Amino acid sequence: MKDMHAKKKVYITRTIPSPAVELLQQHFEVTMNTEDRNARRTELRRALKDSHALLCLLTDPVDDALLADAPKLRVVANMAVGYDNIDLEAATRRGIMATNTPGVLTETTADLAWALILGTARRLVEGDRYTRERKFSGWGPMLFLGADVHGKTLGIVGFGRIGRAVARRALGFRMRVLYCDEAKASASIERKLRAQRVSLEKLLRESDVVSLHVPLTDRTRHLIGRDQLRMMKSTAFLINTSRGPVIDENELVRALRQGAIAGAGLDVYEREPALARGLAGLSNVLLLPHIGSASVETRTRMALMAAENIVEALSGRRPSNLLNKVRRP
Ligand code: GLV
Repeated sequence: MKDMHAKKKVYITRTIPSPAVELLQQHFEVTMNTEDRNARRTELRRALKDSHALLCLLTDPVDDALLADAPKLRVVANMAVGYDNIDLEAATRRGIMATNTPGVLTETTADLAWALILGTARRLVEGDRYTRERKFSGWGPMLFLGADVHGKTLGIVGFGRIGRAVARRALGFRMRVLYCDEAKASASIERKLRAQRVSLEKLLRESDVVSLHVPLTDRTRHLIGRDQLRMMKSTAFLINTSRGPVIDENELVRALRQGAIAGAGLDVYEREPALARGLAGLSNVLLLPHIGSASVETRTRMALMAAENIVEALSGRRPSNLLNKVRRP
């Protein structure tokens, strides 16, 4: 009798904004890893032995072996738009719903892509360091010359929500916008964003800034490798706010060293949090710690969205951001 009324259990793999935790606590028994580190595999395995829902992060690999040992698990809610950390096929096969947080981080991530565009082209971090180190001894005609951004050509690889939000910002900089994507945008979107669909090769050859906005899949892993870097202009900048493995990072280090491209602005890394050998020693890169969606407002929205997906799933409704078709949603 007691069991019938027992609250369902939710495990949260790391401290997230409190409104989401409070929402979940209204309905469920919530356990959260409050250590300032990712949940360990052993902790996750233990928690999943009797959890009904998992609220996880892009840094938590959710694979078949983990799901195999989670007999009560009904839903895995990723607090991220990207879900390459989840074995979706395994979840589907085991009748476990998976959800993500699309939409709420679009503008914030596009803002950060632009911070990287401007930061690399105008050498913001180098200039900041120089000034702090008291090296600034007065205006100089040749001091920290960078590249103009306005009026140049922006190439957007992946023209989904975030890619389009980046393109929208380019209108204010009067840029020519090229994009490549498996799908063509509607004529009205192309007109509104003044964007032209081209092949990846044409985009790489003609763009002054190349910004990546594809999800990580088997098709996009190492999409930008040695050959693609060679196609880029030697004056061009490569910006990545998507997923690290989209770029072959060792090849990028080589290209940056050789001056094959002018610079790179990276928020994500191939073997995160490790950096490719040599990357951190280069002055023509701007390196950020995967903070594309990291504003207070957006992280709160993402956490709430993940929590709402869990509430929906565990109350027998179809979660708003369901990624897979399961037999008993
Ligand atoms: C962040 O990288 C996300 O996928 O939400």
